[in-house]
Amino acid sequence: MFWLWFWESWFDRTADWAAAQADAGDADELAAIHVASFARGWDVPEMEDLLRDRAVIACKLMREGRAKPFGFAISRIAGDEAEVLSVAVAESRRGSGGGATLMARHLGRLAGHGVRRVVLEVDEDNGAAIALYRRFGFVEVGKRKAYYARKDGTRGAAKVMALEMR
Ligand SMILES: CC(C)(COP(=O)(O)OP(=O)(O)OC[C@H]1O[C@@H](n2cnc3c(N)ncnc32)[C@H](O)[C@@H]1OP(=O)(O)O)[C@@H](O)C(=O)NCCC(=O)NCCS
Repeated sequence: MFWLWFWESWFDRTADWAAAQADAGDADELAAIHVASFARGWDVPEMEDLLRDRAVIACKLMREGRAKPFGFAISRIAGDEAEVLSVAVAESRRGSGGGATLMARHLGRLAGHGVRRVVLEVDEDNGAAIALYRRFGFVEVGKRKAYYARKDGTRGAAKVMALEMR
């Protein structure tokens, strides 16, 4: 039993990242990651409703060859524009390229649906997320004051970022 646990945890940390389409069957696990990542987490029914919405594109992050999700990216499409509603990687797996794998797949899927412009809001103090979005070519196009409720009860300003996909 110890070896099974050891192998599984070793595999979950070292296998390559992979990303795939998420659907309503992933709602439980993705809601748990959301709740652990944000001040106002989405519960399972909320997550399930989003994943069933035909205008919503969702991707999940996994280890190659495994089913368990460690993260997600969710966007809503309107015409040729999409808004990124949420992106998160499980805290214990951050900083190892999972977010980049997820965004690459997610933006590719949005482009495949005819999206030409992607917009999002991000807490201006969220260095990891801003680095991730800049890496993919997002630029700051605006700012919203006192937009975010943080876990510590304070409110943070949001950067509005956009990516033109050509
Ligand atoms: C934002 C988030 C999804 C990034 O996921 P990740 O798996 O850590 O991302 P990666 O390991 O692929 O790293 C992405 C970039 O962030 C940088 N980064 C990672 N952690 C960082 C940190 N703590 N501070 C600054 N930059 C950081 C990496 O160096 C990398 O930048 P590079 O491409 O220029 O090298 C993750 O931190 C997260 O889930 N945060 C909580 C939820 C959240 O804030 N979501 C965004 C809402 S807008």
